[in-house]
Amino acid sequence: MKNTVNKGIVLLTTLLLSVGYSSAQNARIKIDVDRKVGEIDKKLYGNFVEHLGRCVYGGIYEEGSPLSDEKGFRKDVLKAVQDLNVSITRYPGGNFVSNYHWKDGVGSKDERPPRMELAWNRLETNRFGTNEFMEYARLMNTEPYFSVNMGTGTIEEAQQWVEYCNVKEGPYYAELRKKHGYTEPHNIIYWSLGNEMDGFWQMGHLNAEDYAKKAREAAKLMKLTSPQIKLVAAGSSNYRPDADPNEWNATILHELRDVVDYLALHMYVGNPNDNYYNYMATPMVLDERTRVVKGLIEREMANAIRNGRDPIYIAWDEYNSWYRARDAETMSGTRALEELYNLEDALVIAGFLNSFVRNADIVKMANMAQLVNVIAPIFTSETDMFLQTIYYPLQLFAKNVHGTSLDVFVDCETYKTEEFFVGLGESTTQQNAVPYLDVSVAYQNRELIINVVNRHHDKAITTDLISQSGAFDGAIEVLEVNGKSVKAKNDFGVTEVKTQQKQSVKAKGNVLTYSFPAHSFTQLRAKIK
Ligand code: AHR
Repeated sequence: MKNTVNKGIVLLTTLLLSVGYSSAQNARIKIDVDRKVGEIDKKLYGNFVEHLGRCVYGGIYEEGSPLSDEKGFRKDVLKAVQDLNVSITRYPGGNFVSNYHWKDGVGSKDERPPRMELAWNRLETNRFGTNEFMEYARLMNTEPYFSVNMGTGTIEEAQQWVEYCNVKEGPYYAELRKKHGYTEPHNIIYWSLGNEMDGFWQMGHLNAEDYAKKAREAAKLMKLTSPQIKLVAAGSSNYRPDADPNEWNATILHELRDVVDYLALHMYVGNPNDNYYNYMATPMVLDERTRVVKGLIEREMANAIRNGRDPIYIAWDEYNSWYRARDAETMSGTRALEELYNLEDALVIAGFLNSFVRNADIVKMANMAQLVNVIAPIFTSETDMFLQTIYYPLQLFAKNVHGTSLDVFVDCETYKTEEFFVGLGESTTQQNAVPYLDVSVAYQNRELIINVVNRHHDKAITTDLISQSGAFDGAIEVLEVNGKSVKAKNDFGVTEVKTQQKQSVKAKGNVLTYSFPAHSFTQLRAKIK
């Protein structure tokens, strides 16, 4: 009898080992500073200001408000924006840019023409334009990233905008800028050649061949005007069942491989069916899409004449959770796209940021869409503002996650998702092995910054963090974004979710055992000897 029991125990142990994991053992994260992925570009922590809803008017800019300065910039919003360390800011759209003519937004404010704004169904007063944005960008301490109109705009208009912004003096548009009070050029380095030009919803939508021709000629004129600029091609992220975004991407990369520096991709996710675990797996789809486009880029780079230039990189220049404000009513007018975020949204955003860092060799820019009110980390009323849940992980990454991204080994329990929608009806997917722990690690000056999302809804996960490059040294700082439930959220005067500094911890030699709480994002800052 005793023998049979023993045999049973042996059999059970063998079974557990053969599936590779026993829940009785700690999860493991092994970190080796020699396993480098690439340098983390600070442009991963970018943002986006579009003339949409209350992002500009009533967001960053509110003329006549007691909360604004003499230029009309909301001072309370600016402070929150500055605290976010936004490295690069895209402007002025989005879909908006495909019916935007930049000349409408310069010169005397009272003489600027009001226009019908067709992308989001609003009146565009044009009281905020190129120079107002550049003044704001300086206050934000952000790199500007402009998008030209490849829809209803011409290549000549794009060239003239570059001349207005970047040429010191001489030609007509450089002199016009000076006449408008800006003696020094703005020197805008990053320019994208239109927005989502593959989409049927885009004004002036083109097929891939026609877009490539127009973008190539625009690029030629823009670069002849200002040779130092870097160009971003509009990639496709349209994963609808009847579309293959990677056919577009392959054509664009092939046709523009000698002239562009980045390919722009977009991704929005959501939780419309209220399935927490499916939603938590969406950053894995971002990983997959990055890998596929990386392959396309590598294929083109193998044959391109780059004359010593860097390879083409990916710019995820729009990403966020966006699903509540996404019907006919909430997608138009002055209150368009106003999402109120909760903790699970913040965890998904931390997962996106982990993915960008894990793919730091190829992803060199990312822009949360958008900065204020419109699917945004900052939300205002006429008299107040508050920080949404998604503000906090973005802030922690922007402040602390720099240096070299490391390829770490993660061993933890996994779960399987149902089939779920990504991009809200654009495509479906299923993930067979979603690790409960989603991890990225940065390394700089003998310091490790370890970013961990615990996707588990109910359980803390005890984990051995093993340094393979020397013992941990001294106290380890712990920052955590969490809340009472995954639906916890912030509002005016209410902060249920924010970053909390936890008690620091100490490792034993090269092993730190830490228990990551259920539904949390944790950032550990640890020195190694
Ligand atoms: O960010 C909101 C919109 O989403 C942008 O204008 C467009 O590019 C995308 O479809």
